[in-house]
Amino acid sequence: MAIASATTNRVLNSNLASKIMSAAEAAALINSGDQIGMSGFTGSGYPKAVPLELAHRIAEATFRGQKFQVSVFTGASTGPELDGALAMAGGIHLRLPYQSDPETRKRINAGEMEYMDVHLGHVAQFVEYGFLGKLNVALIEVTAILEDGRVVPSSSIGNNRTWIDEADRIILEVNSWQPTALEGMHDVYKLKAPPNREPIPILHTGQRIGSPYLTVPPEKVVAVVLTDAPDRNTPFKAPDEGSKRIAGHILEFLSWEVKKGRMPENLLPLQSGVGNIANAVLFGLDEAPFEGLTSYTEVIQDGMVRLLKSGKLTCASATAFSLSPGMMDEVNANMPFYHDKIVLRPQEISNHPEVIRRLGVIAMNAMIEADIYGNVNSTHVMGSRIQNGIGGSGDFARNGYLSIFMAPSIAQKGTISTIVPMVSHVDHTEHDVQVLVTENGLADLRGLSPRQRAHLIIEKCANPDYKGALLDYLNRAERLSYGKHTPHLLTESLGWHNRYLRNGNMRIREEF
Ligand code: COA
Repeated sequence: MAIASATTNRVLNSNLASKIMSAAEAAALINSGDQIGMSGFTGSGYPKAVPLELAHRIAEATFRGQKFQVSVFTGASTGPELDGALAMAGGIHLRLPYQSDPETRKRINAGEMEYMDVHLGHVAQFVEYGFLGKLNVALIEVTAILEDGRVVPSSSIGNNRTWIDEADRIILEVNSWQPTALEGMHDVYKLKAPPNREPIPILHTGQRIGSPYLTVPPEKVVAVVLTDAPDRNTPFKAPDEGSKRIAGHILEFLSWEVKKGRMPENLLPLQSGVGNIANAVLFGLDEAPFEGLTSYTEVIQDGMVRLLKSGKLTCASATAFSLSPGMMDEVNANMPFYHDKIVLRPQEISNHPEVIRRLGVIAMNAMIEADIYGNVNSTHVMGSRIQNGIGGSGDFARNGYLSIFMAPSIAQKGTISTIVPMVSHVDHTEHDVQVLVTENGLADLRGLSPRQRAHLIIEKCANPDYKGALLDYLNRAERLSYGKHTPHLLTESLGWHNRYLRNGNMRIREEF
């Protein structure tokens, strides 16, 4: 049963059509204290009208001196109409999992909003196991509702299946901006709870194991809201010189792995984080000699679409699109071409350890800093200020065939070294980090002891401005440390961060 075109009515089920109302009426069905599971992942497929109206209600309540707050669970980051508006209104009590909205970040770091940073692959089961309390409302953007009540998901699928199953009340936003050709692209699969959980039967990246539709119990649907609004769709920034150099090191390394016979010629399924460096790697792959590539990842971004278009990539599995407006136009205009090459799965499947381990994914993620032993901080600036969140980096790094972390060797105009004696917050321990890359070089840490790793990381990855100071620290630690297995001088190990907080520079005063 197909939805005919973007212009026809998107709500074909008469029962659910009778529940169509305005966004303001739907927002009035949400109570203070509710826990709401919202759709949305990396700026795509998030509800765009009801959160704005909810923010108005919250602002009015605040004006009257009443406290009105809700807890917001999503797939990952959303857009200004959701996170931005609700944060601005002071309307979020607890937010999880990943966010990247400036206002939300500001409120969390001011201590005004609770934020729980959860592995993206864990969120659905945490809610299903009851770890996070009752989910009151599911607020989900969809592409269309079919005659028999089944629902065509939107440009991301995230945790929507779980939100729909677990919530008492469901509000659907039907967004006619979303292309009808999304129908058939999704693969919704439900895991049973332990001890009855079964193996997930995905043996290759493009395999479909579930249904293209979400099933929604009609009796739980309290509102259907019609919208016509674009996803966040951040404009694309061409990769800068540093990102291109990082990409170059990674591609050379992958070629070497193939030569060594540790990987097939078409590599293994690629997972690529978001951002400038990740896109540079994908762009680099377009010119590299690899053919028949596959991807098992979280988001389909510009670089990946380019690879699909050129034929280098044969299929991509993810949970969401995250495209620039230009690339979105390209995909929309050629949906039949991309339709069979892209599978969008619930994020508990796209990020599932079992599948990531079985397929042997190559995990490539950006980081904030790494220490000389290979521990990685992906989330907290100076150990306390959240940037975005761990996202899926832990799901992929811990379980992939290879885990690669990458960053420029300096940040904030050189006042910060991203290679430090000790990370100020740990997201990925030294046990889960196999390769570190900066524009200066690549350190392959496999098979090395901590002290060997430290010398290699400083030699290959550190910025020349900080190399001497890092070596000096390591040499003294090797002589004076309490233990010589992972030498540290505890009075100094976080001194670089302290110095930055005091002087605005990690270098000691005489050096700048
Ligand atoms: N210390 C202090 N600040 C640092 C820093 C460091 N070591 N490293 C980076 N920063 C700052 C940058 O200066 C920049 O600040 P600005 O916004 O004031 O300019 C900001 O952090 C973002 O850095 P940028 O270099 O633009 O990186 P990015 O946009 O590629 O993001 C991460 C890098 C690590 C923040 C991002 O990749 C992330 O959130 N990762 C965690 C989640 C993840 O891996 N998701 C993918 C899994 S599928």
